[in-house]
Amino acid sequence: MRLYILLGFLLLAVFCSSLVDARQVKFGTLCSRNPSNHKRRCDGKYGCGHYGASRGNRKHMGLDIVCADGDTVVAPFDVKLNGRSKPYSQNNAINDGINLSGQGLCFKLFYVKPDSYTGTLKKGQRIGRMLPMQRVYPGITSHVHVQMCDRSDPTKYF
Ligand SMILES: *[C@@H]1O[C@H](CO)[C@@H](O)[C@H](O)[C@H]1NC(C)=O
Ligand SMILES: [Zn+2]
Repeated sequence: MRLYILLGFLLLAVFCSSLVDARQVKFGTLCSRNPSNHKRRCDGKYGCGHYGASRGNRKHMGLDIVCADGDTVVAPFDVKLNGRSKPYSQNNAINDGINLSGQGLCFKLFYVKPDSYTGTLKKGQRIGRMLPMQRVYPGITSHVHVQMCDRSDPTKYF
């Protein structure tokens, strides 16, 4: 009898810990002036901000989070900085970004000028500054682009 009670508790413990493991990782605030990570919707000629949105004959491989030009970009959770990652092969005013990892995820943020390309940051600490997107795409909803290193869909993390 006592053994069954013990086994019962053991099963309960395993079940509860699996629930904790299955809890979805969520991104904290990315841009100071957009604390709840509002996503970019569709804005006319530049297309839409969701993953898989059409970009001519290509697809949008990330998710766009609204971010005002010059805003402070912060760590969405504790992160490691894995170096520079640029969106374009040809240079322009917003051609900068960074590869990050944390919470078991590897992802890139584009259109951000990081203070540093290496090191670690705690959640909420400053990564850098949103670059002047309006200068390159006048009238667009300025945003950071979040792209998983394996190019999978990041939407479930938001
Ligand atoms: C990002 O950095 C990680 C860790 O250094 C590396 O394994 C990965 O290949 C990089 N990913 C991309 C897409 O640059
Ligand atoms: Zn994008």
